[in-house]
Amino acid sequence: MTVHIGANPGEIAETVLLPGDPLRAEWAARTFLDDAVCVNRVRGMLGFTGTWKGHRVTIHGSGMGMPSLSIYANELMSEYGARTLIRIGSCGAMQKHVAVRDVILAMTASTLSTPSRGIFRELNFAPCASYDLLRAAADAAERMKARHHVGGIYSSDVFYDERPDLNEIMVRHGILGVEMEAAELYNLAARHGARALAVLTVSDHLLTGEALPASDRESSFGDMVEIALSAAFA
Ligand code: HPA
Repeated sequence: MTVHIGANPGEIAETVLLPGDPLRAEWAARTFLDDAVCVNRVRGMLGFTGTWKGHRVTIHGSGMGMPSLSIYANELMSEYGARTLIRIGSCGAMQKHVAVRDVILAMTASTLSTPSRGIFRELNFAPCASYDLLRAAADAAERMKARHHVGGIYSSDVFYDERPDLNEIMVRHGILGVEMEAAELYNLAARHGARALAVLTVSDHLLTGEALPASDRESSFGDMVEIALSAAFA
């Protein structure tokens, strides 16, 4: 047990998928894993361990935003030995050629600030994905004929952003989408010598205002889970 995870030693797999929403962790574990067992429910942050095609996998909620994800990713790596961490989540699209339902594979993540800011101080560290995972995820998306994009995203500290000018700068610099967790996941994975990737489904579009209807969410999010699992065990 750690401060925020109730699992016993050995109950967490080396490969962990991290959706923000604990109920999405439950849905993904019940849908994609065999013999999924709940291994954490501290503070309602659900985690499940099971197998996918014979490989052990944990699917564990990260909560929303980098401070929350940082707690779980730190404990998963330093206390439970997680070595491959893949965020599966939603994002808002920031380019015209990116559509709702598309998948974004985040090569790198820009931020204003992360919980690692205290370490980096004046350094603009460039958080980046594991190339192995990124390449394998792109291969999987191509095999599945899932519309996908590979590039930079923006990990924001706020959902209700009072700085529309910042979004405009991101758009001008080709940032594909905005979410709130990937940059710190990449920072922490680098620090722990682990592999990380964010596989994101576009749930809304910042330029057009379009949003994924609730009824389409499960099928669209399913592609993302399959891409993440295929990449982890490629
Ligand atoms: N902003 C931040 N995070 C998000 C968004 C957004 O517009 N959409 C989905 N996750």
